[in-house]
Amino acid sequence: MTMLKPKIIERLNNQVTSETYASQLYLQMSLWCEDRGMHGAAAFFRAHVPEEIKHRDKLIDYLVESGASVEIQAVPAPSNDFSTLVEVLQAAYQHEQKVTHQIHSLAEAAMEEKDFSTFNMLQWFIAEQREEIVLFRGIVEHIELTGFTGENGTAMVQMNRYLHRLVLGSSHPELD
Ligand SMILES: [Fe+2]
Repeated sequence: MTMLKPKIIERLNNQVTSETYASQLYLQMSLWCEDRGMHGAAAFFRAHVPEEIKHRDKLIDYLVESGASVEIQAVPAPSNDFSTLVEVLQAAYQHEQKVTHQIHSLAEAAMEEKDFSTFNMLQWFIAEQREEIVLFRGIVEHIELTGFTGENGTAMVQMNRYLHRLVLGSSHPELD
């Protein structure tokens, strides 16, 4: 017997798929970068893949603990037709904005259903999405600040160093 309402179970199952899609998207973005020798950018996206797997597993564990069944759904193929690294990074930021919206909408549904347990579980995701937005918005702002266009050259090397420093956990990668 599950304590969760069918509507909430369905929404959480969809979010499992969404987090899996995010992991596939970042893996594809990493490989797009590898194909073009952009190893710092590739390392940044690759490091983000297990983050998304962690999100997926957190939702699955919650559903299992609640006695709800999880049905693994088909995951759409991630987009791969980018023309520049700027486009890839902007698409990543847009994707995080979309996921943030999904999480907020889920929290709203949990509140409407008076499902305080799910609402409470989602607080972790709300904080996590805030961190993701800070991270990806920081990158987009860095692109604007430096005027990086995605062309090969010194700026490309610097952008790859910047993204690699983010993998190492720097909070001010432009200054290190
Ligand atoms: Fe995520």
